[in-house]
Amino acid sequence: MSTTSHTTADAFERRLSDHPRSDAERAALTAEPAFGVVFTDHMARMTWTVEAGWGERRVEPYGPLLVDPAAAVLHYGQEIFEGLKVYRHADGSLWSFRPWANAARFAASARRLALPELPADDFLGSIEALVAVDGAWVPSAEETSLYLRPFMFASEAFLGVRPARRVDYLLIASPVGPYFAGGVKPVSIWVSEDYHRAGPGGTGAAKCGGNYAASLLPQQEAYSHGCEQVCFLDAATGSLLEELGGMNVMVVQRDGTVVTPALSGTILEGVTRDSVLTLLREGGHEVVERDLPLAEVLDGLRTGAITEVFACGTAAVVTPIGRLAGEGFDLAVNGGQTGAVTAAVRHQLTAIQYGRAADPHGWMHRLA
Ligand code: COI
Repeated sequence: MSTTSHTTADAFERRLSDHPRSDAERAALTAEPAFGVVFTDHMARMTWTVEAGWGERRVEPYGPLLVDPAAAVLHYGQEIFEGLKVYRHADGSLWSFRPWANAARFAASARRLALPELPADDFLGSIEALVAVDGAWVPSAEETSLYLRPFMFASEAFLGVRPARRVDYLLIASPVGPYFAGGVKPVSIWVSEDYHRAGPGGTGAAKCGGNYAASLLPQQEAYSHGCEQVCFLDAATGSLLEELGGMNVMVVQRDGTVVTPALSGTILEGVTRDSVLTLLREGGHEVVERDLPLAEVLDGLRTGAITEVFACGTAAVVTPIGRLAGEGFDLAVNGGQTGAVTAAVRHQLTAIQYGRAADPHGWMHRLA
């Protein structure tokens, strides 16, 4: 557990809303929250210019932005984001999970998109400053949390194609329940062979809006086949599992070995992915990060050599996959039920996040 903090939280000027929601309104909105539809009363922000660097730290009322129609982000998509959560523990204290890892990934994404890096102290400072004002929005029911969405975009009004000389950073927050409507239960996956998410040298390892925009058509294809999510194959060979677009993927073999696609530069370096792999290793599982051919997974599901498949991510936490379908195949995974390894690692991870178990890795960071 880490409680020390040298952030810029105090440097964020507070301009508080003159119409915050009442306690009763907030209680109603946080009782059974869906994913990402309700937002708190405030947001944090900073601005960067090439001349002055980062400045104008403030927390201000949540509301629409004034964006110039020529802002580069609207034309060339120079944008990145992060996702992390604030958990309420039984004693009422508020905690985030490995926020420094998100800060580091945000900086890495910024480098890839030719955006300015936000110092980690400002990333954490903005979170602490917003939670200091809107902490009452962190829900307390089981499986709920306050989802934080930090993002940065090119706000300079300029239509030439070059890195913007003015950039805005914002942090918004949304009380959330499970990512998938219907709660925590096995989801079905469509393996797309027509579309790829990322190619070698592209932006696959960065958390940028463009990656998600490109995933929407294949996602629609998944819906049309009765699936909830799409799984992408690598662009180079069209034969290796990569990720689900918003989640990493792992398979469990009959002997307990867990295999997941290696970080090849085309998939996102998930914080949940890394945490789950750590917990599995410590729990005695062999964990292998390598190429994962679709043919091997299909064969393993047919023969029983693969017993479980699951997805993981901040939003998805650990989500069992109960069905894997694609052109020419449609297979149940573990009879469509949540497998024991998936359930155990989900339980272990959430117990740390919600303060029900010790935090030997120092992953939790106290916010209030
Ligand atoms: C997350 O897990 O935080 C994500 O960013 C995935 C998705 C909601 C975009």
